[in-house]
Parts: sequence; C-alpha cells; structure tokens
Amino acid sequence: MTPSIEIRGCFVTGTDTEVGKTRTSAALLRWCTDQGWRSAGFKPVAAGLEQVDGQWINADVQALRQASSVQLADAQVCPFPFTAACAPHIAADLEGRRIAFDNLLSAAHALSLQADALVVEGVGGFVVPLDDRHDTADLAQALGLPVVLVVGLRLGCINHALLTAESVHARGLRLAAWVGNTVDVAMPWVDANLATLRERLWTRYGAVDLGHVPRLPDPSPLALLAHLDPAGLRRLFDQ
Ligand SMILES: Nc1ncnc2c1ncn2[C@@H]1O[C@H](COP(=O)(O)OP(=O)(O)OP(=O)(O)O)[C@@H](O)[C@H]1O
Ligand SMILES: [Mg+2]
Repeated sequence: MTPSIEIRGCFVTGTDTEVGKTRTSAALLRWCTDQGWRSAGFKPVAAGLEQVDGQWINADVQALRQASSVQLADAQVCPFPFTAACAPHIAADLEGRRIAFDNLLSAAHALSLQADALVVEGVGGFVVPLDDRHDTADLAQALGLPVVLVVGLRLGCINHALLTAESVHARGLRLAAWVGNTVDVAMPWVDANLATLRERLWTRYGAVDLGHVPRLPDPSPLALLAHLDPAGLRRLFDQ
C-alpha cells in the first residue's frame, strides 16, 4: 500500500455537499501560491460532467486546476470523473466502472511529487462510499493530511459540524481548522452559532477558526481569502 503523503497540504471536507469546499480549496491553493509554493489541487472523484465547447468538464476540477500554480491536466486533478451527478459509487456503477482505491492514492502521490503544497477536496461530506469497501474517510486516512472542515452556515450546521469532527477524530486524523461559509443568508443568530462552533471545535479538537465567509457576489479565491485569517493559514500549512 502507498504510504501517507509526505507533503504540506490539507484535506478539505464539508458538513455536506454544496457548502463551499471547492471555493475554499481554491482560496487555499491561491494562498499557497502566494507563499511562493508550487500548489496543486486534487479532486479524487468528480461526479457530474457538463459539455462545454464540445468537451466534457467538471466545474470542481476546472476550479482546482485553475487555482493550482502547477500546470495540470484535468486527468491529473481528478482520476475518476463520472457523468452523473450523484453519489460516487452509484455514478461509477452507472458506467460499469469501479473506483480503484489504490489508483486514487497513486494519483495523489504523483501530484505531490510535482508540488510543494497539495489541497485535496473531498467529495460531498466526510464519509461517502467509493466502492463496496472504501469511503472518502478511508482516503483521508490513507493520505494522512490535516483536515479542514467547511461548515455551511445554515440551521443544523452545528450538529453536522460536530458529527464530522467526531468522525475525523475517530479516524485518527487531525481536524486542524474550519471555515464558516455562508449558505443561508437569512440564518438567524449566526454569531452565536459561530461562537459555539469556535468554542467546541477548539476545546475538543484544537481546530483553528480560519474565518467567516459571507455570501459573495463573486466567490473568487482572492475574494474568499480576504475573509480568512493569515495566521490561521500559516499554522495550518506549517504543521
Ligand atoms: N461564500 C460564497 N459566496 C457566494 N457563493 C458561494 C460561496 N460559497 C460557495 N458559493 C457557491 O455555492 C455553490 C457551492 O459551492 P462549492 O462548489 O464550493 O461547494 P462544494 O462543497 O464544493 O460542493 P460539492 O459537494 O458539489 O463539491 C457554488 O456555486 C459556489 O460558487
Ligand atoms: Mg466541490
């Protein structure tokens, strides 16, 4: 089996799908590039392709490729793209394919050899099946990178964040940091929710609060970075 990755980087997970993992990962890649590091984004599995100018593309893969400072092909950023936008093992089944866990690891290793910093975007939430034996938490575990949790701010997010934190911890991984990303702009008591998350995630797991991102008119890497704490980012990537 391929050993844990010996590279600076992180595994970005979320409280759910569509909570801002890609946007956050792109911002982290941009920050790494600004430090003078060769940065590379990795999306192990991308479910959901669309045809643009005759080419089948996935928006996450494009965003991570564009935010990486290393010149990468889509196939390097994501070794397992699938057409259907659904759970990865179902998307693979629909195409009569299988997500080969070892190939995921070797693809991540190959990228790590070309970069100084690797940002891996998870798929959906933290525990998503990949095949009949493995899930995305196994992947995070095999890579051994510190975990960043994107909390999609909406009612219920505290429970989702704490469940995820427990699961990350149970896998022997370090929940290094978290980001509060606005999903529901009308969410009441946002500051009180953030204070609870800050207190629980720090006290129980030592996870650093990287910042609170509002709903942005243009959620570009630079626009997100303006809301993230540089000291927290340094701490995340220094470990
Ligand atoms: N802070 C924000 N301001 C404005 N739009 C945002 C913000 N965060 C995320 N979005 C938008 O919300 C959508 C979901 O974000 P994103 O793609 O980063 O989520 P994800 O967790 O990566 O989703 P998936 O599980 O599909 O990979 C995207 O259209 C993105 O541009
Ligand atoms: Mg995404």
